[in-house]
Amino acid sequence: MKQSRQKYRTLVTLARAARRRSVSPYSRFRVGAALLGRSGTAYTGCNVETSSYSLTICAERTALFKALSEGEKHFQAIAIAADTDGFVPPCGACRQVLFELAGDIDVILVTGRGRTRMITLSELLPHPFTARNLQKHRP
Ligand code: THU
Repeated sequence: MKQSRQKYRTLVTLARAARRRSVSPYSRFRVGAALLGRSGTAYTGCNVETSSYSLTICAERTALFKALSEGEKHFQAIAIAADTDGFVPPCGACRQVLFELAGDIDVILVTGRGRTRMITLSELLPHPFTARNLQKHRP
């Protein structure tokens, strides 16, 4: 575990830096993420809010969609940094989207003070709905 923590140090730094770019004038809740592709490239993201509140995107999905749109297809880990004293885990929507498009990656949660906790995506989403569940309905 200590080794993994070391391995993801840069990713944690990138997530914390991305948090500073958060566009969150409504919630004032800043989140930054950094997603590590198997190629070794990291893709950052922050939450972006608009005055039509529901048209908001979380930091995690920003990072994932950036990565996919750059051609990265396989992933190792995501670091998620908030300003809070406690750890902020990804919301349900992000768990679903990450599991489907990034797989069972390591998740590193980072507090405002830089404390970290590691967990896997399958621990956060134990019974995922996936394309395999999309059986055609037979009338
Ligand atoms: N948010 C994220 O970006 N990631 C999370 O994991 C939790 C929530 C954002 C969405 C919204 O802009 C703000 O935090 C408050 O919910």
